[in-house]
Amino acid sequence: MEGKTFSHLLQGKVAIVTGGNSGIGKAIVEYLAELGAQVVIDYRSHPETTEEMEREIGSYGGCSFGVQADVSKLDDLQRLIDSAVAQYGRIDVMVNNAGVETRTSVLDTTPEQYDKVLNVNLRGVFFATQYAAKQMIAQGGGGRIINISSVHEDWPMPGNTAYCLAKGGVRMLTRTAALELAPHGINIVNVGPGAVATPINDSTMNDPELMAKLNAAIPMGRMARPEEIAKVVGFLASDAASYITATTIFADGGIMHSSPGL
Ligand code: BGC
Repeated sequence: MEGKTFSHLLQGKVAIVTGGNSGIGKAIVEYLAELGAQVVIDYRSHPETTEEMEREIGSYGGCSFGVQADVSKLDDLQRLIDSAVAQYGRIDVMVNNAGVETRTSVLDTTPEQYDKVLNVNLRGVFFATQYAAKQMIAQGGGGRIINISSVHEDWPMPGNTAYCLAKGGVRMLTRTAALELAPHGINIVNVGPGAVATPINDSTMNDPELMAKLNAAIPMGRMARPEEIAKVVGFLASDAASYITATTIFADGGIMHSSPGL
């Protein structure tokens, strides 16, 4: 594959990536595979995209396979973990990436929208953490749980309330569960992206005026490419990040600290 370099940084490691066939998740799958990990691609729709990814990864000697599972359903989550273990024998890295948002305010969010956002973005992460950690403890040797959170775990986004609520929950889940699981050698870290060029931001990207406003708010002047988030995950999955836990690494082009300087 042109431009791809196969390295061995994560060789022998097994990683699961939820929401792995689009957006940031797709970039994470591709990067972890390039680093030599065996990657389980969790996805909800578009099996053909997952199959295409498997083929592409296989073409340079990488290893991956797809499992269709909805992270908001606990049976699906358990099946995802079990399939990874059945296929590759263990789990070293769990990347909780799947996420949805409704871009609705506290005034106009329906109970259905609320449940959907909280079930995928928080309940799914909570139980994926629990199930992955149980497997890591049973197999021994520790592990890494990496949650793709958002700048909005800590920074309000008016008009996206349920999303902020879920991400704020993931912030505390990581801090608390990391303390509980540290004795087992399991590190838990959030990655907090800012605005990333992925389908979740389609409505902004399709509106030139909104895009100009967004770019102006980002000190670096542009959205992130999904690969720029995937590289942080690759680092956190590697031995180089052995002492990082219970915290968030933000990769946001400075947006959380942008200021008009008034
Ligand atoms: C949200 C996007 C938002 C971005 C920056 C992300 O977490 O999904 O809707 O544009 O944060 O504010």
